[in-house]
Amino acid sequence: MRSIAFINQKGGVGKTTSTANVGACLATLGKKVLLIDLDPQANMSMHLGINVNGKDLSIYQLICGKKKVTEILTKTAISGLDMIPSDIDLASAEIELVNTVGRETIVKFYLDELLDKYDYVLIDCPPSLGLLTLNALTIVNEIFIPVQTEFFALQGVSKLLQTFDVIKKRLNSSLEITGIIPCMYDSRTKLGTAVLDKIKEYFEDKVFATTIRKNVKLSEAPSHGMPIITYAPDSNGTQDYMALTKEIIAQEKNTIKGVKVKQKAEIREHAFN
Ligand SMILES: Nc1ncnc2c1ncn2[C@@H]1O[C@H](COP(=O)(O)OP(=O)(O)OP(=O)(O)O)[C@@H](O)[C@H]1O
Ligand SMILES: [Mg+2]
Repeated sequence: MRSIAFINQKGGVGKTTSTANVGACLATLGKKVLLIDLDPQANMSMHLGINVNGKDLSIYQLICGKKKVTEILTKTAISGLDMIPSDIDLASAEIELVNTVGRETIVKFYLDELLDKYDYVLIDCPPSLGLLTLNALTIVNEIFIPVQTEFFALQGVSKLLQTFDVIKKRLNSSLEITGIIPCMYDSRTKLGTAVLDKIKEYFEDKVFATTIRKNVKLSEAPSHGMPIITYAPDSNGTQDYMALTKEIIAQEKNTIKGVKVKQKAEIREHAFN
């Protein structure tokens, strides 16, 4: 079983789009996949046509002890793709759990038995390095960082790497950063190619060879409650996420190695200043 958190505290970089679509592509290729929506915005749940708002059936009810995991586990329209959905109530969890012993591992505690039933567990994180993201980092062994190939792409990356370092030392020694996903790439602009070069300079071979191009179908698919492979099977978006997914599967042939974080953290953060 591989467990991967898609994290970047920067908002709107492609975390949800990547988690949902990689999950759908993996399931289409015959893998058994569990998606966990750890973002109170519940974008991934809605992206895949699941809206549990007002139904008390989200991960929030699980971590409050009000519902069992079997009650909130939801099937998506794609065979082999299951979801632990989120709703806006999860926003209060960070505050409510503040004085709870073991608050960084509470989600793992409630989901542990379920995880082994899947080939892949993918977690969509909120755009912060708060308690929900920390919970994701105690569940998974791997981190993928989606980065938008825009001007501020690497801003905040040092902070992200520091957080990773602390979690690895204190809470989860098996955690590694195993993939950087360049998202919303526009090869027609000089900025797009320059930023992609910087990202590769910074993260070297951890950057996936597949870049996810800007594609309007990718931004339309969530409002139809479908992943890109169902909504627009012939689009560039489907082509890119399928290529990325095959690359992710191919990682398993090699020993998956993490980024050398200490060295990387020393690299100047504002690479474009
Ligand atoms: N390759 C792409 N081409 C065009 N639009 C995209 C692409 N990837 C993502 N988008 C759109 O950009 C917006 C932000 O993407 P997404 O929701 O995946 O980012 P996020 O990092 O999860 O955001 P947040 O930090 O708010 O959770 C969404 O409207 C999404 O549909
Ligand atoms: Mg998101």
